Amino acid sequence: MNQIGNNIQWAAQLLQEDQVVGMPTETVYGLAGNALSEKAIDRIYTVKNRPRTNPLIVHIHHPDQIELYAQNIPVAARQLAKAFWPGPLTLLLEKTNLIPNVTTSGSSWVALRMPNHPVALNLLKALDFPLAAPSANPYGYISPTKSIHVQKQLGTQVPYILEGGLCQKGIESTIVGFEAEKPIIFRSGLITQAQIEEVTGISISEVQKHKTVATPGSSKSHYAPRTPLHLGFQVSDLASNMPLTQVGFLAFSQFHPEIPIKNQRLLSPKASLDEAAQHLYEALHELDAQGLDLILAETIPDEALGKAINDRLFRAAHKIKKH
Ligand code: TXA
Ligand code: MG
Repeated sequence: MNQIGNNIQWAAQLLQEDQVVGMPTETVYGLAGNALSEKAIDRIYTVKNRPRTNPLIVHIHHPDQIELYAQNIPVAARQLAKAFWPGPLTLLLEKTNLIPNVTTSGSSWVALRMPNHPVALNLLKALDFPLAAPSANPYGYISPTKSIHVQKQLGTQVPYILEGGLCQKGIESTIVGFEAEKPIIFRSGLITQAQIEEVTGISISEVQKHKTVATPGSSKSHYAPRTPLHLGFQVSDLASNMPLTQVGFLAFSQFHPEIPIKNQRLLSPKASLDEAAQHLYEALHELDAQGLDLILAETIPDEALGKAINDRLFRAAHKIKKH
């Protein structure tokens, strides 16, 4: 059996045995395991080398399953699930006892999401338990948007990876929690603040962290390539003895005239934010594999989805230059 393939039954069997599987979603590939099994959860943390204080998102295949795993669900949460599931939205809700404490790192809140990818949905339907799935990268490294990224980063620690093509959306889901029925955005993503406000009719004045619920993953350096990434730096900021053949450039829509073309990636030649999001991690993976001394990256227009892309670039950066 090849490590990458389309065999949902095989993947389901491995998951029933508390093993982990690479699972495509529309955002990024996840490292999936039985969300109700302490043994499977333990395996996810070990393979990802992720601190056990950082909880996992639980994936479901039908909106009604929200009732099984969450309680005291705010009206706004139901409105958002109805509007955006299946899709790139994660809801932070009070958990029921069906969700083990290890899955939420001891928190009484569970992160729930119904992904919009046929392979993920078919896999979930083949199982009688939900799937915990963090992004399938070693902790802190670039998220995977292709099956080969999972294979290269996690190797034989993952017995099987389901093929799902290049992820259509390309960056992680928006995470929304609630304080007294009012939505709070914990992680920006494909679903924008304006969309959340429109659906719930509630304006979100502050995009900030909840006082009692921490999203540990969102406060650390993340999504980072091994090659130092300098955000907002110009070629003129580089040391004069730095050969441009050793410098990469991650651009929004236009090549840099002085840097060799093979060292450059355009996120979207037609300057589309959707296309830029889809290609962000792929471009970072490719540039990181080139053995460069450093990568210069541009920020993206800071509007709508551009905010979520810039958030990932800031976290990926080793150095940031503010203009
Ligand atoms: O698009 C996505 O959300 C992808 C795909 C695979 O579904 N998953 C993903 O998972 O990005 P991960 O583990 O890389 O990021 C999940 C974030 C982390 O920052 C984690 O701290 C937070 O969600 N989180 C998960 N459960 C939580 C909980 N119960 N309370 C607070 N934060 C939670
Ligand atoms: Mg992640």
